[in-house]
Amino acid sequence: MFITFEGIEGSGKSLQIGMAERHLADRGIECLLTREPGGTEFGRAVRRVLLGSEGPARDAMSELLLYLADRCEHLRQVVQPALESGVTVLSDRYHDATRAYQGAARGVPLETIDRLAAILRIPEPDKTILLDLEAAEGVARARARNALGGTAALEGRFEAEELSFHLEVRRAYLRLARKFPQRIHVIDAAGSPEEVFSRIRPLLDEWFFLGRA
Ligand code: TYD
Repeated sequence: MFITFEGIEGSGKSLQIGMAERHLADRGIECLLTREPGGTEFGRAVRRVLLGSEGPARDAMSELLLYLADRCEHLRQVVQPALESGVTVLSDRYHDATRAYQGAARGVPLETIDRLAAILRIPEPDKTILLDLEAAEGVARARARNALGGTAALEGRFEAEELSFHLEVRRAYLRLARKFPQRIHVIDAAGSPEEVFSRIRPLLDEWFFLGRA
């Protein structure tokens, strides 16, 4: 299975994806945990360019093409080989992030994004966990984390955006969840990590273990 985790900044994706991996691994499901941007050597270089907060605002299309280049490398080098060998792939962000950020928030038409995805043979994941949180709370969490880790200059480009940008990203994700109701599962990301994971666990158990016991 190919499962992606999505959400606004500070929604707790990275923590939850780690908890999901442990939950599955403890029950004998071999998982590969990966991320976008930056799931390959090439992707890590792209990530540094994309997420640095230095320099003038970027053209939305050049940003889009970099995310898609990262995705192609990630799919061919990491995701598809793992899936072919029977490993479950958990990815911290994937194509819905492009639809939400470059599409809704940066203004690239969704049709352009999805036409490029078709040309590049970018498949939809099997399932997506969307961690949904008030934009203001997510931004506050992300800023506190960057201040603690001193990563603002390296990874602060999106965190530095106005609240309205994050509101737009959140709305876009919720629209995608309505458009793909079978695939995208909206999880309330408010509360402690354990509380949030208790909302995700039943889904994992349904997808992996239902009918097996
Ligand atoms: P991520 O590493 O998930 O950051 P965080 O853990 O702080 O949420 O993602 C980095 C940033 O890249 C995030 O601001 C969203 C952005 N992004 C896009 O704009 N488009 C994309 O296609 C992807 C994958 C990420």
